Amino acid sequence: MGEIIPLKKIPERSAAILFSYPKLDPEEVLKRVEEARELGVEAIELRGRHLIKGLPVLGKGHTGVVLAVKTKNGAAALKIRRVDADRSSFRREAEMLRIANEASVGPRLIGASDNLILMELVEGQYLTEWLSNPGFDPGVVKRILRRLLDMARRLDLIGLDHGELSRAHRHILIAGEKPVILDFESSSIHRRASNITSLIQYLFINEGNRHLLEGWLKLPDRHLLLKRLKDYKSTLSEEDYKALLTFCDIVQGAQEWEIKA
Ligand SMILES: Nc1ncnc2c1ncn2[C@@H]1O[C@H](COP(=O)(O)OP(=O)(O)O)[C@@H](O)[C@H]1O
Ligand SMILES: [Mg+2]
Repeated sequence: MGEIIPLKKIPERSAAILFSYPKLDPEEVLKRVEEARELGVEAIELRGRHLIKGLPVLGKGHTGVVLAVKTKNGAAALKIRRVDADRSSFRREAEMLRIANEASVGPRLIGASDNLILMELVEGQYLTEWLSNPGFDPGVVKRILRRLLDMARRLDLIGLDHGELSRAHRHILIAGEKPVILDFESSSIHRRASNITSLIQYLFINEGNRHLLEGWLKLPDRHLLLKRLKDYKSTLSEEDYKALLTFCDIVQGAQEWEIKA
């Protein structure tokens, strides 16, 4: 467990930088602390595998700093907009996450403001770390990959393009046996959704990931895979999706297809 700092103490503590990163602006901190209070945040907890100025946090990206927090309803994750982010508000990202949630994708959205997104806290490992775990049964790996691909498939069907699944390194966490797709900052409902295409490229074309997967399943030929991806992309049909999963050795055939996650 990490150090817990009540929200009202933040402005006077070194953790204030987390609310106005990378440049500390005391007024901005006060404003954001107030936004957090309105969303129901009571305290932050300094923990996580990433460090900002020596303080442990859950994550750091180009637009946000993500902290573990306590709310009146329990633990949650708080994404705080960086003051140097190229977005002026988180409202749009929160709306994308809300739409993803309708397809049971992404951490559950709890609330949002201009500078904050409060969401379900995901305790897990990045997919690549998880895949490096030597002790699994191949069936477990295939089941998790199937669940992950089904999520991308559901996003394709509702027309929400995640936008960063071809470089999903820090955007997929595995919590227990549940994959969670993070960060809808680059998402859009106005372009053609290519989540399956991006994710399969990330998993099965990317050299490093191919290497991680080869112990668990029979890798598909890259050239043929690209052709099947093209077919899927033009139809988005269930049939082409099934063909892709079978080709990637994630399901064995029609019978197994019906066993849903
Ligand atoms: N709900 C969450 N639960 C746990 N960790 C999270 C959560 N959301 C984000 N993170 C962590 O924070 C990192 C950065 O979040 P992300 O949304 O990608 O920010 P950015 O838009 O700045 O890239 C992620 O890679 C992940 O490690
Ligand atoms: Mg990110």
